[in-house]
Amino acid sequence: MIKGQFPVEKFQSLETPFYYYDINLLRETLEAVKKEVEGKKYVIHYALKANSNPRILKEISSYGFGADCVSGNEILRALDCGFPASKIAFAGVGKTDREIKIGLDNDIFCFNVESLPEMEAIERLASQKGKIAPIALRINPNVDAHTHKYITTGLEENKFGLNKSDLPKAIELIKKSNHLKLIGIHFHIGSQITDLSSFENLCVRAVELQNWFSKQGISFEIINVGGGLGINYHHPNHCPIADFESYFRLFTKYLKLKENQSLHFELGRSFVASCGSLIARTTYIKEGITKKFLIVDAGMTDLIRPALYQAFHHIENISSDKEYETYDIVGPICESSDVFGENILLNQSRRGDFIAIRSTGAYGETMASTYNCRELPKSYFSDSL
Ligand code: LLP
Repeated sequence: MIKGQFPVEKFQSLETPFYYYDINLLRETLEAVKKEVEGKKYVIHYALKANSNPRILKEISSYGFGADCVSGNEILRALDCGFPASKIAFAGVGKTDREIKIGLDNDIFCFNVESLPEMEAIERLASQKGKIAPIALRINPNVDAHTHKYITTGLEENKFGLNKSDLPKAIELIKKSNHLKLIGIHFHIGSQITDLSSFENLCVRAVELQNWFSKQGISFEIINVGGGLGINYHHPNHCPIADFESYFRLFTKYLKLKENQSLHFELGRSFVASCGSLIARTTYIKEGITKKFLIVDAGMTDLIRPALYQAFHHIENISSDKEYETYDIVGPICESSDVFGENILLNQSRRGDFIAIRSTGAYGETMASTYNCRELPKSYFSDSL
């Protein structure tokens, strides 16, 4: 088994658990995306929800990417970290008045509207401010993303987006209003999608819908296909960068843009997942009746993905090169689901050894909590340790 390269010596003086980010890998990933979209009318809004650590955000904004935000505070964070308002899209089913006002006051690029009542709220607030709110209709494409049910979002049974039956009313409202400007349509079918044919189906639906709008005499400048490109959690060393080439090629092939149209993406995970690892220390090795438990000082409060989605993360002991043994790797939290991996082969481990839980740069730090009065995990970066 090949292991990742970690500066274990430098970790000795640090308190665990913490997130460690490989800035070189992040940059290589961003370069790879940039290379694919250069010369095309493709605009990327990085989805802050995946990782909103300011250092990471500053790195991403420095490449000229835009931002996809799902709360007023994410908009403020994005602005603080160098994303221009003109590249900020604002999504989410429950935008409050305060959050809509943040978007309006900062003249963001677009509100991705998810329901008729939300559209009414944006219209009311824009009218109060004498502004015109640019909106994209988030339409539920009813495309199955073949991913975990908690991260499937594009089916009619999900809470997201407008259904096609809502569209005539939405169009009526927009036509009546002097404060809403329809600039596009928006979709998002789910996350951690590795079967790219789901995106092909999305393209087909997007073209169908675009034609439907044309028949109503409506055209728009943007089509936003959301995010969702998955990464390889099983081979973080062999496949650290997602297959951006195949992903973008698919859209180029199946989604022909009209003159003046641009295609927008909201990638989160594929930008940041691989560059992050959660580093923990082994607190105890506990011999069970049938199992050996390796108890670490990180818990589901630091990384909830395994407990919440039964997500797999590659785990390695980066302090040991002894023979392999089988462990259940668990945290200290008083919940049976506080397990990072069962029957995992690790180099024989001792108290104090560092354990790296890999590919945790996305939805790791951002989903951390203080349950059990724990501290939030800190973060360190490869170029400033
Ligand atoms: N756009 C919208 C409207 C979204 O809802 C999401 C993610 C994205 C973009 C970014 O998707 P990505 O490229 O990262 O797949 N906590 C879960 C993932 C939740 C994803 C929610 N929406 C996890 O840890 O797997």
